[in-house]
Amino acid sequence: MNAPVTIPFIDLHAQYSRLKPQIDARMHAVLDHGQFILGPEVAEFERALGEFADGVQVVGVSNGTDALMLALMAHEVGPGDAVYVPSFTFAATAEAVLMLGATPVFVDVQPDTCNLDADDLVRAVAMTKGLRPRAVIPVDLYGLPADYRRISAVTQAHGMHLIADAAQGLSGAIDGVRVGNLAPMTATSFFPAKPLGCFGDGGALFTRDAAMGETLRSLRGHGTGKAKYDIVRIGMNARLDTLQAAILLVKLTVLEDERLRREKLSRYYDSRLSNIIEAPARPEGYASAWAQYTIKLADRDAVQAALARSGIPTQIYYPRPMHLQPAYASYGHGEGSLPASENLSRRVLSLPMHPYMPEEVAARICDALCAVLRVGE
Ligand SMILES: Cc1ncc(COP(=O)(O)O)c(C=O)c1O
Repeated sequence: MNAPVTIPFIDLHAQYSRLKPQIDARMHAVLDHGQFILGPEVAEFERALGEFADGVQVVGVSNGTDALMLALMAHEVGPGDAVYVPSFTFAATAEAVLMLGATPVFVDVQPDTCNLDADDLVRAVAMTKGLRPRAVIPVDLYGLPADYRRISAVTQAHGMHLIADAAQGLSGAIDGVRVGNLAPMTATSFFPAKPLGCFGDGGALFTRDAAMGETLRSLRGHGTGKAKYDIVRIGMNARLDTLQAAILLVKLTVLEDERLRREKLSRYYDSRLSNIIEAPARPEGYASAWAQYTIKLADRDAVQAALARSGIPTQIYYPRPMHLQPAYASYGHGEGSLPASENLSRRVLSLPMHPYMPEEVAARICDALCAVLRVGE
């Protein structure tokens, strides 16, 4: 018997086929003018993305991890400071905190949305001893914006900074307000697999504060002042490449269309699967970027193995919460301390998700999942 044809988990080729003439032209324009560092496409992209996010300032940077570090640097976060992060996230959220000498404090997530739990944040702040509560970094996990309204009530009550980690959330919104404008400072990533991805590494910061925008521009370029060799603060080399900005300018023109295609696919998955598995939460008024479509299952590992045998790739984001990771465990309180994060790490499974998936492929995925779970619909 022939092995089943494997479905791609994401399909960047399909996107490139759609946009090839425009992307190629933009890339060649950069090769022709040769301004590879902070060429005109960087400012053009920053303006376009700022408009997309309803008029905020955008600063293009080297990747999402550096974006988080620059945001913390701009707020002068450092040793002695507590920065609250969800435990159920990608390592970069906590890594950026430690790179600045501050201390990550892991907070639990909501079992349905998988995003930072504002009630547990209140508990974590109250329990903090010997550190100054300085900042909170909620994450838009799988593309669903975090609960910024409730979290900002907590940050305001304690005089803390709110930095959104929207590496997965760009194109999402709450009540029509887009990610990038849901927090005073937002960091995002253009890693190729993200909702807005480039052809390498890239990232950006969003801020509503023009002076903060200038500080971030200075920080991404070695802390320069008005003149090039006038160094007014300790910064980094963390600029967005001109070539990546040129590519992103084209991809940004289809970002909302792609979000709608992802939304449609998520609705199809829901219609076929929500009776047999726990489908992603859809809080009222929230638009997800659908970076991932992530279901929750009791027997996750067996289901994943069976799907793989049918040629259906899946991913586990993330198999271990940060407070139980060997390199981070000393900042947490061990097994049992953050039960929702621990439980989700055993149950989540992300299905193939991208804007160009034909419906027959989505149907094959759902048929296979129903067969594995041995249910008719
Ligand atoms: C939640 C989250 N934060 C931060 C990052 C870091 O982004 P980058 O890979 O661009 O450094 C990622 C990317 O994978 C992420 O998913």
